[in-house]
Amino acid sequence: MRKKIVAGNWKMNLDLEQGLGLISEITQMHKDELLEGPETIIFPSYVYLSSAAGLLKGSKVELGAQNINENKNGAYTGEVSAEMLLSVSCKWVIIGHSERRQYYGEHNALLFKKVKTALTSQLKPIYCCGETLEEREAGKHFEINKTQISEGLFELSEEEIKQVTIAYEPVWAIGTGKTASKEQAQEIHAYIRQILAEKYGQATADQIRILYGGSVKPDNAAELFAQKDIDGGLIGGASLKSRDFMEIVKAAQ
Ligand code: PGA
Repeated sequence: MRKKIVAGNWKMNLDLEQGLGLISEITQMHKDELLEGPETIIFPSYVYLSSAAGLLKGSKVELGAQNINENKNGAYTGEVSAEMLLSVSCKWVIIGHSERRQYYGEHNALLFKKVKTALTSQLKPIYCCGETLEEREAGKHFEINKTQISEGLFELSEEEIKQVTIAYEPVWAIGTGKTASKEQAQEIHAYIRQILAEKYGQATADQIRILYGGSVKPDNAAELFAQKDIDGGLIGGASLKSRDFMEIVKAAQ
């Protein structure tokens, strides 16, 4: 049995006060309303990870960062290393979000290095993949996801890949209110698991968690999470509202 994950990607939203307020609400609700929940993670902005870590002490909600630099340390102005993230109690990191791919030119070879750096530092990577609308309409969605997964991950050893969580996020569903149907999502999740099985064997593929992301809301989370190969969600917009986020967390129970 794969334990489900619900992860909240705050992106470039909320100031310090708003962010800490949201964390207080989430931790309180999490404590009051859930006994055995899914793994719950929030990904605030870098600048208040440290304050967030303080507030999360004693809570089951874990902390992650939205990006990482692939180098260990050194002269990389403006960048943040794995060691820095560990030092503020981060356990997770999102790698290869479509916004990083699209706006900052992050490509599979670079993302592989980031995944490797995260794993070397014992940070748990959530590696994102997903096709654009144009690619889906051209019937290329299987191929695109396969390339992103194989180029970004397949140089990892079997032991390493087991530490990776994958998030399938069709770009056309992110922030658009247009969710992939449960059938569309399950189809790609099953396909991703199949290519993992071809490379690493079925037993390993069966251990790897694959999250869905793209306009997950309280009213569609349960049906998505009920699919055989969907192991939880990476939530953008709805993770900025404590009640919505908690309802999604509960849908994964
Ligand atoms: P969304 O974002 O839930 O706002 O669509 C998902 C994501 O980008 O991770």
